[in-house]
Amino acid sequence: MGEVSLTVNGRAVRREVEDRTLLVALLRDHLGLTGTHVGCDTSQCGACTVHIDGQAVKSCTVFAVQVDGSEVLTIEGLADGATLHPMQEAFRTHHGLQCGFCTPGMIMMAVDIVRRHPDGLDEETIRKELEGNICRCTGYHNIVKAIDAAANEMRATPQMAAQ
Ligand code: FES
Ligand code: FES
Repeated sequence: MGEVSLTVNGRAVRREVEDRTLLVALLRDHLGLTGTHVGCDTSQCGACTVHIDGQAVKSCTVFAVQVDGSEVLTIEGLADGATLHPMQEAFRTHHGLQCGFCTPGMIMMAVDIVRRHPDGLDEETIRKELEGNICRCTGYHNIVKAIDAAANEMRATPQMAAQ
């Protein structure tokens, strides 16, 4: 057992965890943040994607003790109060989800993709960047449309693109 202290969605948290506890388990089981999903046992699906210190990471690939001192952002912390993040709004507007299981991870990855491409994104780049996030429902077309639309919105709001 060890103690881990980190900031999750702007809130300081401290928990006792086993050395083998994964970050996704800390989020879901210890902190009740069940918007981060587990879709595989093989680090392939991307449903567990969160941001660690501003970068998208599959939270099933990281031990909780490894993020000691870090800032973690989950889907629950992305909106600004009652105002959805432009990426969330775009997924809704462009029907970028069906069952919604992949959606939290998709959105967290999508925000990271936009931030890593400040000069613009084309469809081919979006599809390539999404290779680590699997959706079994949508066929990806509307997800790509949503990310493209949100990218334009985020670029028009500089603090969004930098956050
Ligand atoms: Fe993490 Fe599938 S649960 S990649
Ligand atoms: Fe169902 Fe993506 S919307 S898995």
